[in-house]
Order: sequence, then structure tokens, then C-alpha cells
Amino acid sequence: MSTNPSFPSPASLAALTERAEAARTAGIRQLFASDSNRFAEFSAGGAGLLLDYSKTAIDAETRSALFDLARARQVEEKRDAMFSGARINVTENRSVLHMALRAEPADGYRADGDPVSAEVMGVLTAMSNFATKVRNGEILGSDGDLITDVVNIGIGGSDLGPVMATLALAPYHDGPRTHFVSNVDGAHMADTLKGLEPKTTLFVIASKTFTTIETMTNAATARRWIVATLGEAAVGAHFAAVSTALDKVDAFGIGSERTFGFWEWVGGRYSIWSAIGLPLMLAIGPEDFRAFLAGAREIDQHFKTAPLEENLPVLLGLVGYWHRALMGHPTRAIIPYDQRLARFPAYLQQLDMESNGKRVGLDGEAVPISGPVVWGEPGTNGQHAFFQLIHQGTDVIPVEFLIGANADEGADMAVHQDLLLANCLAQSEALMKGRTLEEARQQLLDAGRAPEDAERIAPHRVFPGNRPSITILYSKLDPATLGALIALYEHRVFVEAQLFGINAFDQWGVELGKELANNLVPVVTGEASAEGRDGSTRGLVAAIQSMRNH
Ligand code: F6P
Repeated sequence: MSTNPSFPSPASLAALTERAEAARTAGIRQLFASDSNRFAEFSAGGAGLLLDYSKTAIDAETRSALFDLARARQVEEKRDAMFSGARINVTENRSVLHMALRAEPADGYRADGDPVSAEVMGVLTAMSNFATKVRNGEILGSDGDLITDVVNIGIGGSDLGPVMATLALAPYHDGPRTHFVSNVDGAHMADTLKGLEPKTTLFVIASKTFTTIETMTNAATARRWIVATLGEAAVGAHFAAVSTALDKVDAFGIGSERTFGFWEWVGGRYSIWSAIGLPLMLAIGPEDFRAFLAGAREIDQHFKTAPLEENLPVLLGLVGYWHRALMGHPTRAIIPYDQRLARFPAYLQQLDMESNGKRVGLDGEAVPISGPVVWGEPGTNGQHAFFQLIHQGTDVIPVEFLIGANADEGADMAVHQDLLLANCLAQSEALMKGRTLEEARQQLLDAGRAPEDAERIAPHRVFPGNRPSITILYSKLDPATLGALIALYEHRVFVEAQLFGINAFDQWGVELGKELANNLVPVVTGEASAEGRDGSTRGLVAAIQSMRNH
């Protein structure tokens, strides 16, 4: 509950707190027992996605209080403000308009009253021309060789989206091989370059600010690698750049015809739709990239127009808020039963935690609670690793399952998808239903165990059940579906931010570490003393220096 007068707690929040208290004891199983129509009532669809949130403790009354809360927190008004181009990112004084990157010109997005479509389309066309020419061999390396490998150098939002999406859309990948270097750890660059040849490699330097130390360090190393073999004159043919800081790109030596801009109204973690998507476009081609944008646009239209009761991002946001703020679950697990979404949890970690991991609200006053820890791995692998804790540990972890009804693999591999689907359904069923002590005991007796054995072992085989999960089902992971999935989660983060009362679009929390790292470099190299730092840092610096000298 908020004690902040500028962010008062509406009556619906008090009602929801009581509902959560009751839900803790009543559980989810009995909701299915008392309502044979529960799935139909607690699922919704749009843009090719089906969201099943029936396996949560939300009943009709709770849901209606959640909608009241959404109205009290002005989710619709704030959504409309975002879409109108108002500067809702108040701490950076910026509009939030990544939706304009996937729009049709007729959608009419404006930043500060000025239409943005012409500029957006201009960059999209320039990227498409460049990607087409690299893919068909019209653009070659400095010695006239075909570009066989693209290395994207970027970090955070300039890396996670393209990495995730390129893997997700592997069946559509018919362009050059793509590689991604993000970590300033030289191992990342060294291991990537090992199998590559300078004359057939194109580097894309992706950085919104073009100042990020990791990216600039890796870019300088890549430049030396090219120059060492092909000479200084080859740089122009082996680099392209994506940035909002066009002057800095120019200073690096990358020509304007290979520089693709975007705008300050595109947040880093919302930038996959911009020129930051260039490596994805090089991999899958401009046409599939546009299908990816179109899928996201479908969710934008849905988010803007669907009533709250049927609105997927709103529902997903309310379920998320219910679990985090009202049921008090500190984490959420994202489990794609889709190997090609292996990096989706990592992508959502930035999207969600960099957006909603904030301790103060829009007015700078403390908020009682902010976003959860987001984590996950693909199923079925997760089942053989951490699912033990999800089923029987002492913490409740709401799980978000994602799965396609169909796979890309042919009929001879159909059994794989059947097993994948069965496992996904089995996990959500097991989490919800659990297994009672009596059932566990009886199973052991039925299996021929002696009664005293059955008594001793049965408690270990009890699953408490009533553990919440949601399932997002789609037909197949194609470009449009991936676009829709990402946009769904983007807007979910927005909805939750309104409920928490925070600004989802800044990221001041990453600054302090950056500042300290910069002034620790001379300490690590021995050019400056560690004197005056805390005892632990001094001790570690001394140990590092002694290990480096041996
Ligand atoms: O880690 C902070 C951050 O600013 C992210 O928000 C961003 O995605 C990332 O760094 C990379 O920034 P840039 O694209 O400017 O190099």
C-alpha cells in the first residue's frame, strides 16, 4: 500500500489485498472444480497469440478488482499518452515511440507534434537496400569477396534483441552467418574471430550512444583486426554502424551510406525494431523483417483498441502485478518450450528488469514494490534442472510457458513436437494439481511397496500444487509471431509500470557501476593507488596485482 499522497492507494487495492489473502488458502485447484468453463473465461486471444491465465488464483471477483485498479491507475490514459508521443519518459524528457518503428505511415505517429513516419521509412528503406546488396553480393569486401559473416558489436539493447531474434528465426535465415560480440571480456571477441576471415567479414557497430565502453573497445579491436590484414583503406568496406549519435560514427570512420540512424524516442531495450535490427535483417532478409514488424504492429493496434477485459498486454500485466505485488512472489520464470526462444528469457530480463526495477516512483518518492526478478531457460531442459524447486521448493514461482502448436521440422520429426507439447501441458498441470499425501501413499502401495516404506517415502513425493502458471500458445514461431510476442511483453512491462507507479523508460541504475569502472581502470593497471577505497576493494586489487605478477 502506498502512503504517498501523490500516488494514493485506490479502494481496489485494499480489496485486492484481501482477495490475495483469501487466495493463499483457497488455491487454484478448487477454482477449476467449481467452474467447468474456467478455461474459456480466463483466456484471451489476439494477433495469433492465445493467453491462458486460468491456472492462476485469479477468480472473477479478483479480476474485476484488477480492472478497477488498472482504471484507477489510468492505464488507458497513460497508454494513449505514450501513443500520442507525449514525453512520458519524464526523467530523460523523451517521448516513447518504438511503436512508430513498426507502423504503417497511415498510423500517423508524431513526436512533439512532428510526424515521424517519413524518417522511419527512410531508414527502413536504406537498411533494406544495404541488406539486400550484402545478401546478393552487390556489396562486397574490400578485395571483392562475398560477405559470408556479419559480426554485430553491441551490448544490452544493442545486442540482446538481435541475438534472440536471429536464433528464434533460424528457419528463415538465408543470409550471411551472424555472430554477436557484446562482452568486453576479450575472450568473446577472440573466440568469435577465430573462425572468421577479415576479407569476408562485415562488422556492424551497434550503439545508441556510440560511447558504451564495451562496444567501443570491441569496435576498436575489430578495426585493428581488419587493418592488420587488409590495411586502413579496407575499413570502409568492412564496417557499418547503427546509432543515434551520427557525429561519433563519422569520427570512427564509417561512411554515412553505411550508417543507419534512429531516434532518442527509441529506448535501447525497445530498439530491435529500429536499425538495431540490421543483423536480423541481414540474416532473414527485408521481407521477413517487415513481417516481424507487422506482427508487432498487430499487438500495438490490439493494445490501443481492445477493451481492458480482452486486452492481452493488460491481462498479462495484471496477472504479473497480482503475482508480484499482491501474492508477493519475488520472481517469475519464463519457460519457452521452444528451443529457438532460448534467449528470450535473457531478452526479457533487460526489457523487464531494466524497465521496472526502480525504487522510486515518477515523483521521486519511494514506491512500496517494483518489478520481479525475471529468469528462465527453455523446456524441456529446465525440467531436468530447476523444476524440482518450482514444484516442491518453499518459494512459489509463477511460470510463464510459451509454446507453438506446430514446429518447422518435417513430418519425420513430428514426435518431437508432440513430446514437447505434452511436457509443457504436463508441467502446468502438475504445478496446479500437485499430488496429495494420500495419493502419494496409494501410488507407492499400488507399486508394491511395504506400508512402512510407503509411509516414510510418501511425504517426499507430495506436490503441494496450487502453483500458478500461464501459457502463451501460438501456431508456429514465424517472424510475425515473434514480433507479436515481443510487443506483447513490451506493453505488459508498460502496464505493470503504471500499476507500480514508476517510469519504465529510464535506466539510471546502470550508471554508478559504469562510473566506478571507469575510475577503477587506472587502479587495476597500477597507474593509480587504491588508497581511500573500501577495504574489500583494496584487498582485491592487491590480490589481483599479486596474481598478475606471477
Ligand atoms: O546498460 C545500460 C544501457 O544503456 C542499456 O539500456 C542499453 O541497451 C545499453 O546500455 C547499450 O547502450 P548503447 O546502445 O548506447 O551502446
